[in-house]
Amino acid sequence: MASEAANPGGAGTVASHPWVPVPFSVQERVSETADTATISLAPTRSGGRLSFAPGQFNMLYVFGVGEVPISISGDAEPGDRFVHTVRAVGKVSRALFDVRPGDVVGVRGPYGTGWPLAEALDRDVLIVAGGLGLPPLRPALYELLRHRERYGRIEVIYGARTPKDLVHYAEIQGWRARTDLRFQTTVDTAGRDWYGDVGVVTTRLPDARFDPTRTVAFLCGPEIMMRITAQELVGRGIPPGSMWLSLERNMKCAVGICGHCQFGPEFVCRNGPVFRYSEIERFLGVREI
Ligand SMILES: Cc1cc2nc3c(=O)[nH]c(=O)nc-3n(C[C@H](O)[C@H](O)[C@H](O)COP(=O)(O)OP(=O)(O)OC[C@H]3O[C@@H](n4cnc5c(N)ncnc54)[C@H](O)[C@@H]3O)c2cc1C
Ligand code: FES
Repeated sequence: MASEAANPGGAGTVASHPWVPVPFSVQERVSETADTATISLAPTRSGGRLSFAPGQFNMLYVFGVGEVPISISGDAEPGDRFVHTVRAVGKVSRALFDVRPGDVVGVRGPYGTGWPLAEALDRDVLIVAGGLGLPPLRPALYELLRHRERYGRIEVIYGARTPKDLVHYAEIQGWRARTDLRFQTTVDTAGRDWYGDVGVVTTRLPDARFDPTRTVAFLCGPEIMMRITAQELVGRGIPPGSMWLSLERNMKCAVGICGHCQFGPEFVCRNGPVFRYSEIERFLGVREI
């Protein structure tokens, strides 16, 4: 199993220095939705095997456009590629969405903390993802399923705005067919051609099956969704210390120096992005943070 901080400070790429992006070429691009694509990147110069911990992110640099943090959404087994799922929301993410095989982008990383899979051993695991919260959790799900016997019940709730906004759709069908995993999808709104659940992810929580005294919960999605979900799970008996959330903040350096990503007393790039809920609970929802 990948460790929780396989590559602190970016030691896991073929980078010579944490500030210097390493050229990677686009190997594959898969359209997920109208504004989201999954891209596979391999170093242009051959190097060692690439490794990361589920939950970590890379800084992706589109030359001449800019650099943004993007979670790694592929398998954490050491390999020759980094996989990222990008939603076009602005200048840099749009340029990443638009890349084609053969294009070259810069990569710094992996950075940040990962999902604490060791805490999940012999316990039930509840994963709640909203929107583009599924890609950062996908490597953790791969690890859980690779070592399925080590964990109790695994329950996943994934919500998106509409059916057309569900990412990794084909893979989800495979997960939903498994008997050792309960994977629920729900959408905020849908037309008549949708036969699944309708409602925000929190509407599925009452139906989730887990033993709160032996459950760890991993949450990723819009901050308001994570805050409400965490509060509801506390109401269901999961201690705040048994829940982890992945936070997003604007970043520049990604190595704990510039202060751009400050969240209360924490730097999201260095102390996060995955935080234990009990450690950040009081800062969530504070407007100026
Ligand atoms: C640790 C981490 C992991 C991330 N993982 C992913 C990922 O896997 N896939 C993905 O598509 N995106 C991810 N993001 C968000 C991504 O970094 C932003 O969408 C990107 O920085 C936007 O830059 P831009 O130049 O495209 O848009 P900009 O022009 O900078 O902004 C466009 C719009 O997006 C908003 N915005 C900008 N940055 C953020 C941010 N960090 N969080 C929320 N809103 C923002 C702006 O307020 C604005 O409304 C992650 C962010 C962090 C911090
Ligand atoms: S991005 Fe510079 S301190 Fe986090």
